[in-house]
Amino acid sequence: MEKINFATLNWEKDPITQFEVLYQAHFRKLEQVLGRPPTDNATRVTIATSTKDGTPSLRYVLLKQHDNRGFIINTHYTSRKGRDLIENPKASLCFYWKQLDVQVRVDADVKKLSSEESDANLEGQTTRFSSGVGN
Ligand SMILES: Cc1cc2nc3c(=O)[nH]c(=O)nc-3n(C[C@H](O)[C@H](O)[C@H](O)COP(=O)(O)O)c2cc1C
Repeated sequence: MEKINFATLNWEKDPITQFEVLYQAHFRKLEQVLGRPPTDNATRVTIATSTKDGTPSLRYVLLKQHDNRGFIINTHYTSRKGRDLIENPKASLCFYWKQLDVQVRVDADVKKLSSEESDANLEGQTTRFSSGVGN
């Protein structure tokens, strides 16, 4: 299987653009391997948070969306990660795409999205955080 050669990769200046290039490459490769479009497009990602005093914690979430501002995940305010992100709005994400044998790491400041940007169908029960790369 053809792998990404990082030595010869034409790196994008903008890290989010670089993410998008790899994200699309991952889906192309998956389709190639399956011989059909994947039925499951959900992107699972680990998100590490920590308390103010530096106690770390890691779990999987679904990536809801990403755009040039960063990455969006949903979670409850009252969950451990929700509480961590309120007291220490920094997080790391780590994606692993088996077909490319690539991991993508993101260390970022985290912002709570406005309620307008939150999902109406979640009836305010979840908190959405955006995690921008390096902003
Ligand atoms: C594949 C997968 C996807 C998940 N997606 C989410 C998610 O989008 N949001 C979420 O809050 N928890 C999600 N969870 C559950 C979290 O991993 C975690 O168990 C839960 O949110 C409580 O974590 P916390 O107590 O550290 O906040 C997912 C779990 C798995 C295995």
